[in-house]
Amino acid sequence: MMRRVEPCRAIGGSVRVPGDKSASHRALMLSALAAGESTIEGLSPGLDVAATGEIMAQLGARRHLEGDRVVVEGPVDGLRASPQPLQCGNSGTTMRLVSGIVSGIDGTHRLEGDASLSRRPMDRVAVPLGLMGAHVVGDGPKVTPPLTITGSTRLHGIDYHVPTASAQVKSAILLAGLFADCATSVHEDVRTRTSTEDMLRHAGVDVRSVDAGVGRRVTLIPRRPAPRAWRVPTDPSQAAFFCVLGLIHSRGDITVLDVEDSPERTGFVTVLRRMGGDLFATASPSGVNLRARSSTLCATEIHAAEIPSVDEVPILSVAAAAARGVSAFRDMGELRLKESDRFEGSMALARLLGCRVWSEGDDFFIEGLASADAFASFAINAGLDHRIVMSSAVAGVAGHGCDIDGSDTVRSSYPGFFDDLARLR
Ligand code: S3P
Repeated sequence: MMRRVEPCRAIGGSVRVPGDKSASHRALMLSALAAGESTIEGLSPGLDVAATGEIMAQLGARRHLEGDRVVVEGPVDGLRASPQPLQCGNSGTTMRLVSGIVSGIDGTHRLEGDASLSRRPMDRVAVPLGLMGAHVVGDGPKVTPPLTITGSTRLHGIDYHVPTASAQVKSAILLAGLFADCATSVHEDVRTRTSTEDMLRHAGVDVRSVDAGVGRRVTLIPRRPAPRAWRVPTDPSQAAFFCVLGLIHSRGDITVLDVEDSPERTGFVTVLRRMGGDLFATASPSGVNLRARSSTLCATEIHAAEIPSVDEVPILSVAAAAARGVSAFRDMGELRLKESDRFEGSMALARLLGCRVWSEGDDFFIEGLASADAFASFAINAGLDHRIVMSSAVAGVAGHGCDIDGSDTVRSSYPGFFDDLARLR
């Protein structure tokens, strides 16, 4: 779907972004794995999380809505293989985490994805899950989807160093570890988001984390998670779009309400402040309110480890485009493997805005235009990538408008994005 985004003279007000996608997937999964009834409040309304919900139902969990809450009943005798393929849609988190779960369920499981997901590497989960005793088959050396997984109720615990920091890979291993015969340990060189460990612990599973330098070692003792009443916090990665909009708009003053305040997720706040952004945090009932006001931004150097999982890089490259000077984005190779090639996508967006942009290996550079007022009007094809859509829209509103082909992809994580954006005008 093609959408025109018009610029506006001033933008302000407050916005509450939807439930965190990461926590939503895990709440559905842990509820389905538990015996009995769990409830979930604040679930992400996106299609990615809906795909996880459907798959949990296919594997035997029952769900219904009770007002705003989702009630999930995990089968007492455990999840069972489905004869139908498990459709993961656009969602890498769904495919990688579900791979971990079905590795511990006897039988053959087929996992499918859309065109974007079918290009993404699954070898990163196939290798450790194989070591645990599951058999994961996909296409070619990168094991791209569709996947056929032969699971086993007799998995072995492993001690595994994740070669490229990834919360999805860590989580797939820990979830498979629930079905193993002994403890499973995962080491990561960069501390990635902790939703899986935190939520498993909350569900009564013995999970210990020990920080080691900038990395972390997580050890899980197998045990069935217990049912819980889950409250999903709001999604910091979605808050980043409105923070950048408030900062780069020449008349911006936006408050994002109740942003989850966790160090692995809010690296973008540190980066934006370093750029000179007037981003003020006050305590809120479940996190912080972040107020972003028009600022003159200066260039910075951003290392991937500062924003693990690099989800906020496309929107930070819009901030860099509005800054004075050359911003350096270092060690950004993982960006190429997201819903689209966000390494090229982030550079292409800045180039469309009128910036000089170049790359060297896994680093890329953006020479900013010193103000969003200098952005060009542009047209972009966002592919199947929700974060490129939202980054483009922010640039269009703060600058001189844009046309976005593929704008309906926001449905995967934030179906109400354009409505929330319109309310701030
Ligand atoms: C996620 C982990 C990240 C992130 C994705 C959600 C998760 O991916 O990009 O949006 O919920 O575990 P990687 O773990 O592959 O970096």
